[in-house]
Amino acid sequence: MSERALHVHFPSLVRAVPMATLGAFPTPVMPLPGLRERLGAGTPELWVKRDDQSAVAYGGNKVRTLEVLFAEALAQGATRIVSTGAFGSNHAAATVLHARRVGLEPGALLFPQPQSAAARENLAVTVTHGARVEELPHWSFLPYGLARAHLLDKQRRERSYVMVPGGATPLGALGYVSAAFELAGQVARGELPAPRAVVLAVGSTCTTAGLLLGFTLAARLGLGFRVPPRVVAVRVTPWPVTSHARIVQLALRAAELMERYGALGSAQGSTGSLSAPGRAELEAGLHVDGRYLGLGYGRVTPGGLDAIARFTLDGGPPLDTGYSGKSGAAFLDLARDAAEGPLLFWATKSSAALPPAFEAGPSGLGRDRSVLRDLPRMRAFLEAG
Ligand SMILES: Cc1ncc(COP(=O)(O)O)c(C=O)c1O
Repeated sequence: MSERALHVHFPSLVRAVPMATLGAFPTPVMPLPGLRERLGAGTPELWVKRDDQSAVAYGGNKVRTLEVLFAEALAQGATRIVSTGAFGSNHAAATVLHARRVGLEPGALLFPQPQSAAARENLAVTVTHGARVEELPHWSFLPYGLARAHLLDKQRRERSYVMVPGGATPLGALGYVSAAFELAGQVARGELPAPRAVVLAVGSTCTTAGLLLGFTLAARLGLGFRVPPRVVAVRVTPWPVTSHARIVQLALRAAELMERYGALGSAQGSTGSLSAPGRAELEAGLHVDGRYLGLGYGRVTPGGLDAIARFTLDGGPPLDTGYSGKSGAAFLDLARDAAEGPLLFWATKSSAALPPAFEAGPSGLGRDRSVLRDLPRMRAFLEAG
């Protein structure tokens, strides 16, 4: 277990909310002068938070959530950790590539999604490195899949900790409350100016809700910023999953959890007592933008492709078509129109090289293509590329 910003600022959470050490934090913050120059005179300062580099094995936004959820799984005595999501889920890929590092066996319960190269790459890695990877015909079969997994556990006398898609629970969101405090600390140390807005992709809402709560709390403590940066959440899954109300609700539930553990309310944080923010305060700090979703989750958009090319040419982090390309497109439009900055892009897609698929790794773990015999939908998905 290592020191995370959440623990530094809320010592009562060290015991209550332990975190497994998966990532390398703080992740760097960097200016984006190339992008700014390309957009022309009057463009505000542009910055990026490199959560794409959050871990060597596999980075991106999911690592912070997994640090909390893996620790919770271990505390509950689980031996297996199961992710749920779409075939190309980054959450599932991150889970299979990190779980064994903390002694958990990784499983996944996945349903089909639209085709893309990134989704195929993730699925190949998930199937290769996962232990009990199962396919469902459609997301609506999730309850059936969960019941089956529970039954299998009972038969085998195993204990699995099953995560909801994206790990979007109040506990999972605390990983991103920590990230918000990490950024606030970087601002306080003068590593970057206080951003007026932070732009990121919103899918399951976990990352956005955590940042929203964290920025609000950090600003109240006067850490880094006096006014919290406005969170601009760019939809990569449709309403109502990413409704404004749902995101705020998750942030409120995460605040309740912090209250329950004595970090908010009358209890003392390291910097003084701090009460939980109310709904109206959180609502005001969040803008949800649905204009970049295109035809839906996992669908490639022209704006996303353009953002991927621009970021690559002008010194930004690598983006993907399903998530960060869409938030990248929104970031560029905001930068063009913004009267004031600085603006910060939160890079959420891992830029770590994926391990080879369908080959045993150095540890002897890893499975070959024969595993696809029992996974016909996944095989067809992988072969369509
Ligand atoms: C690369 C990437 N960016 C952004 C998101 C959205 O994060 P969240 O699901 O926490 O809303 C995801 C979710 O899977 C993701 O994989």
